[in-house]
Amino acid sequence: MFIDAINIINNNYKDKFTIPSENLYPFQWNWDSAFSSLAIHSFNKKKSWDEIYSLFNSQWNNGMIPHIIFHKKNNKYFPGQDYWKFRGKIPSTCISQPPVIISVVYWLTQIGDDKDLKNAKIIYHKLFKYLKWYNDERDIDNLGLIKIFHPWESGRDNSPDWDEAMDNINIKIDANKIRKKRKDLNHVDYSQRPTNNDYYKFISLVDFGNKNNWNKFMMYYNCPFQVVDHGIQFIYIRACKDFLKLSNKLNIHEYDDVVKSWIEKFTLGSEKLWNNTLNCYCSYNFKTNKLSTNISCSSFLSFYAGIGNNEKKNKILTSICNSINNNKYYFPSWNNNSKQFNPVKYWRGPVWVIMNFLICIGLYEDNKIISQKVLDNTKELIEKNGFYEYFNPINGEGCGGKNFTWTASIYIITKNIQKYAPIFYNQ
Ligand code: DGY
Repeated sequence: MFIDAINIINNNYKDKFTIPSENLYPFQWNWDSAFSSLAIHSFNKKKSWDEIYSLFNSQWNNGMIPHIIFHKKNNKYFPGQDYWKFRGKIPSTCISQPPVIISVVYWLTQIGDDKDLKNAKIIYHKLFKYLKWYNDERDIDNLGLIKIFHPWESGRDNSPDWDEAMDNINIKIDANKIRKKRKDLNHVDYSQRPTNNDYYKFISLVDFGNKNNWNKFMMYYNCPFQVVDHGIQFIYIRACKDFLKLSNKLNIHEYDDVVKSWIEKFTLGSEKLWNNTLNCYCSYNFKTNKLSTNISCSSFLSFYAGIGNNEKKNKILTSICNSINNNKYYFPSWNNNSKQFNPVKYWRGPVWVIMNFLICIGLYEDNKIISQKVLDNTKELIEKNGFYEYFNPINGEGCGGKNFTWTASIYIITKNIQKYAPIFYNQ
């Protein structure tokens, strides 16, 4: 099975980057590349760094790393490069994705050698620019909260976390035309993908951005979709902390003060996301001033960010244990007690192994036993069901894309856990 995982990644390899899955996602995706470069490092260091450099070569002048980079034209995907009014040198989307890549660069220097440190140094200032972009363009009001303008930025496209915000979005497109343009349904059953109605709104939001040239003020103040994804918020805080550790290793200290001030600001801001009814952190809709209504897998990333006092941590741990006890395979992307839970529909219930992996890293310091339990459950899920994009938490059935790069990547990491151990120690 280990060899199968390597074969999947090699088959999905294009020219200096790896696609998530043949046909369904035929380009480079931002956070997918973070997980694949981490795994590829165990068998081909050069390819691992090439993957990272391909991503950073797409960086916009303002520092943003796009969520999809269309290195080569291909009309198998919608909305492709012709749909986006991009401003970078390489065709791309105009939104980003969770910045796991910053931590990955640091992790490669933890598990690697001097050569890896040298490679990290080459893109060091670009890493800073990416962090700065989140601060400058997504927290214009200095609230310590990162705003996103499209569900695709969260990576959790159709999560019930966005239902309320999406309900308020008017569809301003020719729905019939968009329905026919969808390419994803040629490869995955509708029951496992976002609905057509979701797509009409996804595309209406892209149209809004294009119409406003993705101007940061227009987007920040006028975008119809303005939410805080606790997933991005926590991954960003962790990225800032890992960036400081990398700076220390490289003995470069010019950004220390500013990055420390971001950690402080966004940690404080996160307290606004605490939900007293759910006893955990959750997402927040700026337009209605409302917190989300239930627990998603991103709620368990607060440990990864290293936030929350002991009382809060204990409450979240209780939810984590409940989720473990109530599911054969965990963590469902949306609480299975909720009426919106759907075990096979994309981010409305299925288990995503990349989320489990980040949760395991975060939990390790506070609770090694649970962290190990989650890792074992994740490994078993893949071993019994294959390298699917996501999985049904009730019976483990694989859903979505097949031969999926990030699932193969997480499997390789769990099988090589000795090599990857340092990234769990948070040192
Ligand atoms: C898709 O096309 O479904 C992706 O999730 C967008 O990033």
